[in-house]
Amino acid sequence: MNTPSSKSLINQSQKISSWRIFFLSLATIASLILLWTLGSFHNDPFITETLSINGDVLSGSKLFKINCVGCHGISAQGLVGPDLHEVTKELSDKKIVNQVIKGLTPPMPSFEIEPKSMADLLAYMHSLN
Ligand code: HEC
Repeated sequence: MNTPSSKSLINQSQKISSWRIFFLSLATIASLILLWTLGSFHNDPFITETLSINGDVLSGSKLFKINCVGCHGISAQGLVGPDLHEVTKELSDKKIVNQVIKGLTPPMPSFEIEPKSMADLLAYMHSLN
């Protein structure tokens, strides 16, 4: 069966399979990137719920005084942690929520907090600028 025509058939199918491998790996990489992006945008229910609540500035300022002033200063002017007056201009609400609940940047701890309280804190931070 080693006629010239069957040889070229084999070559062609080898070519196809290496293209297939190439596209498969491309698809794998693309889906990994997609998962990673979705993961880092945190479409998690906590954030969705928090952002759907209209926060209360006064309650947020109380929560801030209890939990955050030790590091961010009594009027959020910055101490161990940074000044938060411009923070809502620099970071999206999602990022701020993540900052508070995930504890990604030690020494700032992660806070176990209700969506309503988080919404109040966000409202307070928005009131700072
Ligand atoms: C133990 C100290 C500590 C406490 C308590 C703390 N933070 Fe922080 N926070 C920090 C530090 C330090 C950073 C800077 C982290 C970094 O390097 O990105 C920070 C960063 C932040 C940022 C991001 C600022 C920016 O410009 O990137 C926000 C928003 C924030 N804190 C909000 C809060 C809120 C709201 C609370 C209270 C619920 C809180 N923090 C309590 C220490 C603290």
